[in-house]
Amino acid sequence: MNLAKHSEITENLKTLSKSMDLPENHLKHLSKHNNRLTDFSIDDCGIFFDFSRQRVNGEILSSLIELANEMGVKEKFQSMVAGDRINFSEKRAALHTAVRSSKSVYLDDLNIKPEMDQVKKEIRVFSEDVRNGKIKGTTGKNITNIVVVGIGGSTLGTQYVFNALEGLGNNPINTCFLSSVDIENFRAIQNKIDAEQTIWIIISKSFSTVETLSNENLVKLFLIDNNLDPAKHIVTITSKGSPGNCRNDILKSFPMFDFIGGRFSVTSAVGGVPISIGLGFSVYEEILKGAELMDLHAENKEPEENLPLIAALINIWNNHYLNYNAIGIIPYATPLLKLIFHLQQLMMESNGKSFDVNENKLLNRSGMIVFGDQGTNAQHSFFQLAHQGQAFPIEFIGVVKPYHEEHQKLYKGVTNHQELWANMISQAKTLAEGNDSKDKNRYFEGNRPSSTILIESLSPLNIGKLLSFYEAKTVYEAFLININPFDQFGVELGKENANDIRSEIEKRNNDISIKPEKSDEITEFYLNALFSGKI
Ligand code: F6P
Repeated sequence: MNLAKHSEITENLKTLSKSMDLPENHLKHLSKHNNRLTDFSIDDCGIFFDFSRQRVNGEILSSLIELANEMGVKEKFQSMVAGDRINFSEKRAALHTAVRSSKSVYLDDLNIKPEMDQVKKEIRVFSEDVRNGKIKGTTGKNITNIVVVGIGGSTLGTQYVFNALEGLGNNPINTCFLSSVDIENFRAIQNKIDAEQTIWIIISKSFSTVETLSNENLVKLFLIDNNLDPAKHIVTITSKGSPGNCRNDILKSFPMFDFIGGRFSVTSAVGGVPISIGLGFSVYEEILKGAELMDLHAENKEPEENLPLIAALINIWNNHYLNYNAIGIIPYATPLLKLIFHLQQLMMESNGKSFDVNENKLLNRSGMIVFGDQGTNAQHSFFQLAHQGQAFPIEFIGVVKPYHEEHQKLYKGVTNHQELWANMISQAKTLAEGNDSKDKNRYFEGNRPSSTILIESLSPLNIGKLLSFYEAKTVYEAFLININPFDQFGVELGKENANDIRSEIEKRNNDISIKPEKSDEITEFYLNALFSGKI
């Protein structure tokens, strides 16, 4: 990166950002320009990305693309998919794309594709054996339930996929998710399943995550309490050599690789095993195919036509130059609700950093606060603030064809799906254009930016494309500000501090009279409440 050139580009962007406050650059005018939609949208790889209601013009877009070229973000992306160790702080590669690549991928001169293919073969055989009744529980009953036990990247991406594909129907297997350490989570699941017909899939890359280990312990006690052999009801997905790997009390273990980060792992065995058992191996294959199509688009398309790169540039523009620190993800599709939680981890755990890869303090905020809800529900919760309070950019996501298309033909007049779309279109328009009411209570400032992303249907192929689009967008955003999106040291200190409190609780569990000298006054208050059961 040429520092002088980089500074020239960023200074120009700062100047341009001030021009966007001029009245003539209000979105109610910009969105009326000729060819606005054509010039500020990309339709490729089965995704239509409309960014015409973002507060940009041609000059700004060109300058943002110049920034991308100056930062060499495409070269960094190509270096990532080629297996270079770009996770600098952990000296690892970041090869989530290798799992779904049709081509050989080399890590330190070793072709890792054969191992990737072997894992997929094991997933296919195992999942088919469970679904066809060849693998049975302790009492000889078929497996009709799986419970995915994991937290963060070990569950959120998979929950997005199951939510998105719940309309696929005719599913012989019921899938539940156990993530929180809150005992209520386990109780709720225990009441939903038949223990004799359930396989528990314990997913943890480190196999040291306290929440997952606590839940694994509960599962084993539950199985033993029900006279069931854990070795017939527990599968683990974990790093080779971790405590979850080589054991005799499990049915099978699938490997996770150190070069695939948790929040990027849903197309690996982490998602592959639950999806193949719960939805079918062919569904998993379609997701991989969709993800690879978007990977190739993200890797090869020129910046002007590169969906995730343009989306990343718009985030940088909104965050650094227009000073919006949050982004709302609003899918107008209930099956995409869980995508929001996956994106919260993907975007905030990847890009919520303070130092760049050279350990220089960042001058600008990195990462955005990600939140959201499904439309139209969001209109009845936080859209008051979106329209008349502090502005924040929104990404709307629309699905052209719902699963239940036949329902739309039966019903005369405006169908539910058309009603959903009327609202999605209206919200983006209203946020952008506002009104000129003289009544202050009914005045809408407008000029609130949004993008709209459309996919044709909630097919496994499109779910894979959408997954890869957001992975690539997140990574490109990091490359644009020269941070490492693949580590997450920020989650460690809280866990370490919990160790001290955990040991104080253990002491009190043994002798309530103990007043450990170490705890501070505030902690003391909470420990007393916990043990006395009253505040
Ligand atoms: O949130 C921290 C984190 O390490 C995530 O990156 C990861 O997805 C999650 O915890 C679970 O980690 P593991 O798969 O090792 O249990």
